[in-house]
Amino acid sequence: MATIAGNADVVRYNSVARALHAAIAVMVVFNLATGIAGDALEKVWNPFPLHRGTGMIVLVLSLARLGWRMTWTMPDWPATMGNVQRQLAKVTHAALYALMLVVPVTGWIMTSANSKLPISIWGLFEWPKLAVTKGSALAEVAHEGHEILGYLMAGLVALHVAAALHHHFVIRDNVLRRML
Ligand code: HEM
Ligand code: HEM
Repeated sequence: MATIAGNADVVRYNSVARALHAAIAVMVVFNLATGIAGDALEKVWNPFPLHRGTGMIVLVLSLARLGWRMTWTMPDWPATMGNVQRQLAKVTHAALYALMLVVPVTGWIMTSANSKLPISIWGLFEWPKLAVTKGSALAEVAHEGHEILGYLMAGLVALHVAAALHHHFVIRDNVLRRML
């Protein structure tokens, strides 16, 4: 049987992978929440300046994470995972990696088309904008894409977190522990 949770010699993801996963997870969840609830929140607090800056940080960290990911092989999945689960995990992870790049880029493109919206990185400095014309096809597609892919990402993250909790509390294997 696979290593049981609680065993000290559980094989884990490397520390850089775990740190990047945690940092990106917190920021993506924040951005999904502020993106979805943003309009409702705006009467008390406008979350979008922070949403835009945090989204650009997600892009930079995700590029670093993907670069780092090319340099190592993930720990083997436990024997508790069947073929279907392994394929589903692979597809979900690949989709999450893609969305970690595409969703911020669409946000960057659509915001670049609006001269009134600065992209401030947590008040430290201004992020440069792309040369996108307001009302152009690119700006429109990016806006649509940001919305549709943002909601798709929310669904996949919910599935991903549910799977991690299912592994930990129901199957009781080491899958959650090795990423923490
Ligand atoms: C991980 C990164 C990001 C995630 C998960 C994310 C997610 C979302 C979601 C789910 C929405 C709501 C969609 C809607 O109802 O229209 C939204 C809206 C928005 N996002 Fe992002 N976003 C990210 C990054 C960015 C970036 C980098 C920018 C700009 C630089 C940005 C700018 C905006 C703006 C301006 C809106 C409001 C759009 C509107 O009012 O139509 N986002 N985001
Ligand atoms: C917030 C709660 C989250 C929990 C509890 C969680 C848990 C996990 C766990 C346990 C793994 C390892 C899976 C395995 O070994 O098969 C993993 C991997 C992964 N997670 Fe998350 N996750 C969370 C949020 C997120 C978010 C928000 C994203 C990105 C949008 C994300 C992206 C990924 C990716 C891409 C992998 C694959 C890592 C690799 O093998 O390269 N996770 N997560």
